[in-house]
Amino acid sequence: MQFQLTEEQLMIQQAARDFARNECKPGVIERDELQQFPKEQILKLAELGFMGMMVDPKYDGAGMDSVSYVLAMEEISKIDASVSVCMSVNNSLVNWGLETFGSEDQKEKYLKPLARGNKDGELYIGAFLLSEPEAGSDATSQRTTAVDMGDYYLVNGIKNWITNGNSASVYLVMAQTDLSKGSKGINALIIEKNWPGVTVGAKENKLGIRGSDTHSILFSDVKVPKTNRIGDDGFGFSFAMKTLAGGRIGIASQALGIASGAYELALAYSKERKAFGKEISQHQIIQFKLADMATRIEAARLLCLRAAWEKDQHLDYSLSSSMAKVYASETAMWVTTEAVQIHGGYGYVKEYHVERLMRDAKITQIYEGTSEVQRIVIGRQILK
Ligand code: CAA
Repeated sequence: MQFQLTEEQLMIQQAARDFARNECKPGVIERDELQQFPKEQILKLAELGFMGMMVDPKYDGAGMDSVSYVLAMEEISKIDASVSVCMSVNNSLVNWGLETFGSEDQKEKYLKPLARGNKDGELYIGAFLLSEPEAGSDATSQRTTAVDMGDYYLVNGIKNWITNGNSASVYLVMAQTDLSKGSKGINALIIEKNWPGVTVGAKENKLGIRGSDTHSILFSDVKVPKTNRIGDDGFGFSFAMKTLAGGRIGIASQALGIASGAYELALAYSKERKAFGKEISQHQIIQFKLADMATRIEAARLLCLRAAWEKDQHLDYSLSSSMAKVYASETAMWVTTEAVQIHGGYGYVKEYHVERLMRDAKITQIYEGTSEVQRIVIGRQILK
């Protein structure tokens, strides 16, 4: 066992840190306020290769490892979690799902531009469409239908809370083909946003990650060629679960970054702010808060890196990714709340960033499997 990062991993971490400070920090408060999708930042992120970080270079990816992905996600999430969720969905749900289970034609047509993050100079990213108005945690209860019409599927239904909903060009959609087969009757289909019958619904007005564009997507008699099905007939639910196991490493790293961003701000503030004749960092009550924050963040970081390392070693990482996600997201919520507390009244106003980080932290306990779902996954594995 060794805890050292390689030279390459350190360089990627530094590049992500510089990018976050130079490209994401300016305007982050305004983008949050105005719910503005960070398109410019995502295009620049794509130039760095961060929208296809782990994709094989033969499919136009950057060929980096999952440990580097965790490092980059942490750095970018310290500053702007709306940028990092877009990056996470594109990398871990869309690209990984296509690269691992897609056909060569699908990789050629869709994965390559998705890994580059652009096609003909325009933003080109993907979205993952599993959740529905009545199927969130209970993901096998899909109501969206994909009726087998011979050489194509006819898709009807609604998907909810879709990250990159309006900005994505490509959707990976889970839909029920044979209800009698339950989870084995679900298919994963690649649907292009501009196909007839696809409508982007209203943008959600959210508590946090307000720059990220979250929409419902409606399908009305959308014809999807069978060549756009990922894997065999009925593979869709298994596809979603396997893909989400990696996605959860991305969201865990996002939560880690939100927590460490808030901690760094609180630490710096505690050394500047004076009360009762000394810096507040010199009061034991603040020191104890900082000590607990640092300890929990380090534990979350180790869980994230462990899950990523297992993925890089081609080991089973579904247990460790759920552990990383539940722990890091709960750490993010706790640390950001304490960071606001350390800032006092200043923490409650936008200029000091910590209130945004606290709002952003909450979603990490909800999307890509709630904390309750992670405990189901962990519980089943430790009891089997
Ligand atoms: N890999 C492969 N197969 C799996 C699997 C995995 N990791 N997990 C489950 N399966 C299989 C099971 O083996 C089972 O097959 P059998 O019937 O042959 O045994 C089948 O799938 C059904 O599984 P379960 O019986 O375990 O299903 P369940 O109804 O009990 O639900 C669950 C399990 C873990 C709760 C699952 O529904 C789940 O993960 N729910 C949460 C969904 C989720 O994470 N949604 C996030 C939306 S995406 C998002 O947020 C993206 C974004 O925009 C940010």
